[in-house]
Amino acid sequence: MNISIQRSQNNEYQTYNVELENVTLLTIINHIKTKMDPTLTYSHGCRSGVCGSCAVRVNGREQLMCEYKPSDGDTIEPIRNARVIRDLIVDSSMVDSCNATAIAWSESTKEEGVSNHEMERIETQSDCILCTSCYSACPVYSVNPQFIGPFALTRVWRYVNDPREQESSSKMAAIQTNGIWDCTLCGECVPVCPQGIAPKQDILMLRTKSVMMGYSDPNAAAAFGGGLDFGAPIF
Ligand code: SF4
Ligand code: SF4
Ligand code: FES
Repeated sequence: MNISIQRSQNNEYQTYNVELENVTLLTIINHIKTKMDPTLTYSHGCRSGVCGSCAVRVNGREQLMCEYKPSDGDTIEPIRNARVIRDLIVDSSMVDSCNATAIAWSESTKEEGVSNHEMERIETQSDCILCTSCYSACPVYSVNPQFIGPFALTRVWRYVNDPREQESSSKMAAIQTNGIWDCTLCGECVPVCPQGIAPKQDILMLRTKSVMMGYSDPNAAAAFGGGLDFGAPIF
């Protein structure tokens, strides 16, 4: 089969003819690297959909190379909205910066048992492998690199719903600017997630929680001439 790969040196697509069938894209890329073109550069780790390091775009859609089975004529490109370092390797420093802006981690926990039902509420979001596919697909992040973005907001929803977390107010405050209200709810981040996470739904839930805490949509307030006033945040 023929596989075309975007190369960073000249920004052109290079086509390789590979005699392999019913294997993952990562197996084919490894074959190209070891047998045909040692200059091809890409990233991978676990080979089993766990580490999140092998995300690329195939025919314009984000995929994990270790899970995707390619077809003849597929076109492989690096994920979008990140600086290309070389070929299919991109700068994924947004993982740290977006998580830091959103304080998307546990700040203060108390030791207590968590029920199965409580765990189920945060289980899916806990499965994020930081592959950044959702950032690649997000049209808001593509025009505003300050946007906190899908996975960091999903992680905030995960931690504010964890009964062990004692510090939710700072996270909720952190996502009011360049966060939940800037999302257009387009849903592009949902089908690309290899873990079945739906950041759009989590952002909607964070909006509801924000309103219950006294926050309001600054964009709506601006549209109404600053006339919307839900009062001060309630913590
Ligand atoms: S739903 Fe929101 S976070 Fe998801 S891709 Fe669209 S704008 Fe981005
Ligand atoms: S939410 Fe899904 S698509 Fe986004 S980084 Fe996590 S695993 Fe990847
Ligand atoms: S190599 Fe780890 S997710 Fe693909």
